[in-house]
Amino acid sequence: MLVEASERALCHLKSDSVLLTGGVANNKRLQEMCSKMAGENSAAFSVPKGYCGDNGVMIAWTGLVMHKNGWKQKIEDTAIDQNFRTDKVKINWAKKGKAQHTTNGQWKGAEAEVIRVEAGVDKRRIRKEYRIQELDDAIRKSRTSREPKLLKKAKEAGVNVPRVLSVDKENYLMRMEFIDGRTLSELIESNKDKNIGRPIGEYVAKLHIANIIHGDLTTSNMLHSDGHIFFIDFGLGFVSPKAEDKATDLLLLKKAFNANHSSISEELWASFLEGYTTKETQATLQTLKKAETRGRYL
Ligand SMILES: Nc1ncnc2c1ncn2[C@@H]1O[C@H](COP(=O)(O)OP(=O)(O)O)[C@@H](O)[C@H]1O
Ligand SMILES: [Mg+2]
Repeated sequence: MLVEASERALCHLKSDSVLLTGGVANNKRLQEMCSKMAGENSAAFSVPKGYCGDNGVMIAWTGLVMHKNGWKQKIEDTAIDQNFRTDKVKINWAKKGKAQHTTNGQWKGAEAEVIRVEAGVDKRRIRKEYRIQELDDAIRKSRTSREPKLLKKAKEAGVNVPRVLSVDKENYLMRMEFIDGRTLSELIESNKDKNIGRPIGEYVAKLHIANIIHGDLTTSNMLHSDGHIFFIDFGLGFVSPKAEDKATDLLLLKKAFNANHSSISEELWASFLEGYTTKETQATLQTLKKAETRGRYL
């Protein structure tokens, strides 16, 4: 789970390195899994000796980096705040890598390779060396069969998604319609359009009202084509009426805005809420608020 989440972050931020630190970094199996995951994504991997224990130096270093990047505080405001969590840090210093898609119609996502074919595109979930093979096969099979079902359900709910053309579960393959556009992540970074949050919010509300949880709501999993937004990558999705599950989707999207579009993340989130807020989404918004004040995951 930890390695898979790191892999998704690596792909979403288009980073080129993985650094394993903290007490748990001493775990040899975790080191081995992270190293394989980094290798599979052509990223550098390191476990810095001496930083695999107490977090004090890391906290101090983060403070210094934040200060150098414009986070100025008065000395009297710098007392210890036990409730301050690492995910509250607004990261505006991360360097973005290059988009992973090539000109000849091939993309590499966090878990699949997507290839342009005559009929559309083929999404093939590739073997992950860091997972035990039996587990990896079962995960890839179940996601390959789950994704087309959710795409169909999302379309019925009125959300733009690529049409599924065929599914070959044994080969972890789904063929779907080609959406000619670019990811919303790239679009937002180029035009800094703060108002695009609103249509995203309207579509996510439609998904949630139909009890569809996307499971990986980031702007890398939305495509922009001909003025329309398409949602893709439902492999981690599921169906649930629970406000907690819907709020978890929102929490992830808010973090993705912060991580990937930090210069306009607050405005993007405000416009997202304008689009998302309806009578039917009130319970989810209240659950989100509670979760945020508790300062922890749902
Ligand atoms: N139907 C499609 N049409 C055009 N490009 C697509 C389509 N589906 C996926 N892609 C491209 O492939 C990338 C990876 O696809 P995605 O489904 O997100 O895989 P992963 O699960 O590996 O993240 C996307 O970010 C997008 O650029
Ligand atoms: Mg994806």
